[in-house]
Amino acid sequence: MTFDATFLGLAGFLAEVGTIGTDGFWFPKQASNLAATVDWLWYFIYYISVAGVLLVLALTAFFVWKYRAREGHVERKTSTHNTALELGWTLPLIPPMIVMFYVGLTGYVDLRTPPRGAYDINVTARKWAWTFTYPNGHQSDTLHAPAGEPVRMVMTSEDVLHSFWIPAFRVKQDVVPGRYATLWFDAEPGEYVLECTEYCGTKHSDMLAKVVIQPRAEFDKWLDEQSSLLARMSPEEAGKQVFANKGCVACHSTDGTQIIGPTFKGLYNHEVPLADGTKVVADENYIRESILDPQAKLVAGFGPVMPTFQGTIKDEEITALIAYIKTLK
Ligand code: CUA
Repeated sequence: MTFDATFLGLAGFLAEVGTIGTDGFWFPKQASNLAATVDWLWYFIYYISVAGVLLVLALTAFFVWKYRAREGHVERKTSTHNTALELGWTLPLIPPMIVMFYVGLTGYVDLRTPPRGAYDINVTARKWAWTFTYPNGHQSDTLHAPAGEPVRMVMTSEDVLHSFWIPAFRVKQDVVPGRYATLWFDAEPGEYVLECTEYCGTKHSDMLAKVVIQPRAEFDKWLDEQSSLLARMSPEEAGKQVFANKGCVACHSTDGTQIIGPTFKGLYNHEVPLADGTKVVADENYIRESILDPQAKLVAGFGPVMPTFQGTIKDEEITALIAYIKTLK
C-alpha cells in the first residue's frame, strides 16, 4: 500500500472492503505489492455501483407502484426542475469520485514507475510464446524472478501486439513490436500464471507461461545452475532447450502431428514439397534458411505466418536446433 497514510485513516471504515480480495472470492490471491491498492479501488467502485443500481431499481419499482393508473386518478402537471433534488444527488457523489480519481491516479503512477535499481528481465513475445532473458544472457520459457524486491520487465514483440498479464500481481501491459514497454512488480514467493491478454492469432489462448517467484538466494542458484547447464549440454540437448525457449514448440510438433507449421519429425534429410511445386531436401542449409528467412522456401500447404528469427537467434543456437531436429526420426 503506497498511497498516503492519512487518506487511509479517513477511509478506514472502508478498509475491510479491501480485505475481501485476499480471500480470493472475486480475485486470485494478492501476490504483489500493487495488488492491494488495485483491489481496494475495484471494490470501492464495485460496491458504490451495486448500491447505485439497487437504489435506482428500488425507486423505479416504488414509483411504478405509487403512480400507477387507477380509477379517479387525475394527471397533474409534473415539475421539470428541482434544484434541491439535483444538488442532493450530485454533491454526495463528488467525494467518492475524488477518492476514485486520487487512488486511481496514485496507483497508476506507482504501477508505471519502477523503483531505481529494479532487477531487469527482458521479455520477448512472439506468436505464440514468451522468452525471458536474464542479465547474464540466459534464456528461459518460464519466468523466474526474485521475491520481495522490485523486478522490471523490459518487453518487446517480434510480430504483433501481445499483452503481458499476471493476474495474481494485478499487472498488465501491452507488448508492442518495434519498441520497449516496461512493467514492474514486487512479488511474494510462489507459482503463478502469465497470460497473453491481447488477441494475437490462432493460438492466443495457449500463449501462457509459468511464473516462479523465489527468494533471492534460490533464484540466484537457479540462474547459475541453468546457465552452466546449457554450457555443459550436448548440442542435441541444447537444441531441445532452444526449441522450447524460442517458442518453436508452439507451431512445430516433434511427433508427426501438424500444428501451425510442418512437424519436425523425420524432417532432416527428407524431401519437402514446396508451395511453388518444386522440392527441396531439408539439409542444414535449408533449415537454417527457414529459420532466418521463413518465406524463402514455403512448404506446400502452409501459410506465410512464421516470423523471421534474424537477429534474435545465435548461430550456435541454430546449430544446436539442427542437431536436435536430426534426432527426431
Ligand atoms: Cu499473444 Cu495473445
